[in-house]
Amino acid sequence: MTVDVLLGLQWGDEGKGKIVDVLTRKYDIIARFQGGPNAGHTLEFDGIKHVLHTIPSGIFHAGIKNLIGNGVVIDPVIFQKEITALKEHKVDVKAALLISRKAHLILPTHRMLDAASEAAKGKNKIGSTLKGIGPTYMDKTGRNGLRVGDIELTDFEERYNTLKGKHEQLLSHYDFDYKADLAKMEEEWYAAVDAMREMTLIDSEHFLHQALAEGKKILAEGAQGSLLDIDFGSYPFVTSSTTTCAGSCTGLGIAPNKINKVFGIFKAYCTRVGSGPFPTELFDNTGEELRAKGHEFGATTGRPRRCGWLDIPALKYAVAVNGVTNLIMMKADVLSGFDSIKVCTHYRYQGELIEHLPYSIDENLIEPVYEEVKGWQADLTGLDNLEDAPQELKDYIKYVEDKIGVPISILSVGPNRTQTIQLEELAI
Ligand code: GDP
Ligand code: IMO
Ligand code: MG
Repeated sequence: MTVDVLLGLQWGDEGKGKIVDVLTRKYDIIARFQGGPNAGHTLEFDGIKHVLHTIPSGIFHAGIKNLIGNGVVIDPVIFQKEITALKEHKVDVKAALLISRKAHLILPTHRMLDAASEAAKGKNKIGSTLKGIGPTYMDKTGRNGLRVGDIELTDFEERYNTLKGKHEQLLSHYDFDYKADLAKMEEEWYAAVDAMREMTLIDSEHFLHQALAEGKKILAEGAQGSLLDIDFGSYPFVTSSTTTCAGSCTGLGIAPNKINKVFGIFKAYCTRVGSGPFPTELFDNTGEELRAKGHEFGATTGRPRRCGWLDIPALKYAVAVNGVTNLIMMKADVLSGFDSIKVCTHYRYQGELIEHLPYSIDENLIEPVYEEVKGWQADLTGLDNLEDAPQELKDYIKYVEDKIGVPISILSVGPNRTQTIQLEELAI
């Protein structure tokens, strides 16, 4: 069997959690392949609204295995809190969750380094979620990191202290008081590591190879979005992992030729949280309206999300980098009530009209060029099939499909699991 991948095509928060939850019943295993608690994946159903950070979004479906892959970075404290919150919903997390021994651990001092580095950058800060993501991936590639498998070793504490020592040296170069909270954070961290030892830790690449050999169906769940990718995102205002499709291979140990469908999720407009360029950002009432209607506030940090119109050159770029086979358009309901909707189809870049995403999308270099399409007034939140949709929405879907050259397979018209319309047979 093969692996399908689901990932974000914009700057994150496209609605990945919701759609993974919707699709979970079609799969045997849901596997997160990168990122960490910088992610906030929201699921809504049966009166429950739940935000997941590290745990895959298939966790509410009994009988499905959920894997935290080797490409993920885990903060044991946040992870423990997630487990406690899920237990309140009667989810048997221990039975449903597997953790890769090769996943890296976020230490308290990683979080401090993140905060110190951001503070030192001043107005040039990345706008990090301050969860220690950057420093943890730096230790991974710098070959200093601690991994989940290390917690089973007798010299774990020694390894911890060696890495903490390195971090303290680095921290001493910053004008940043890290000492005040450290002892308390470490105590909490060690308690959470003890709890993690009770979970099922596995050599996950072998588990997945075996699952494939047995004909199991796997869905790889991405975090963040393609425009936050360490290579292809709006560097340096990106996260520190490979958020694009290739990340599912390195983050799970799956070979590229095992990948079948690539589901690319995007909002019918665009948002970004944190710093960095955003060509179609709106600074006017329309931007405010999108934020208010779309409840655009970060699921992890609560920060207001910056809002703007759909950016076709950026979307086309993400589709190409990921090899997207099926598009999923989210939050169409939020666009109800606009007389017209703008779509960026080109950029004016250094005096030229271009259709591709250039090296720099800094606002001083690039100006979005828009086309305007007719909006619709009807409330979509009760819509359950495309036939009953306003003609203008049908036209918008067709317009985007034609621009991108990939079909939109699923349309989302509200945050609830049920507010999801399948537009074509998925054959999973
Ligand atoms: P993720 O990080 O990609 O999983 O997305 P987030 O959970 O951070 O952000 C998506 C937000 O939009 C959440 O609050 C969802 O409940 C909500 N949402 C998802 N799909 C829809 C939709 O179609 N319409 C509306 N109005 N909200 C949606
Ligand atoms: P999900 O999975 C939106 C952004 C941060 C910041 C930059 C770097 O919910 O879509 P980091 O903490 O990774 O060092 O922050 O990336 N960012 C996200 N934005 N959704 C996310 O995840 C994000 N994870 C990180 O705001 O700009
Ligand atoms: Mg999110």
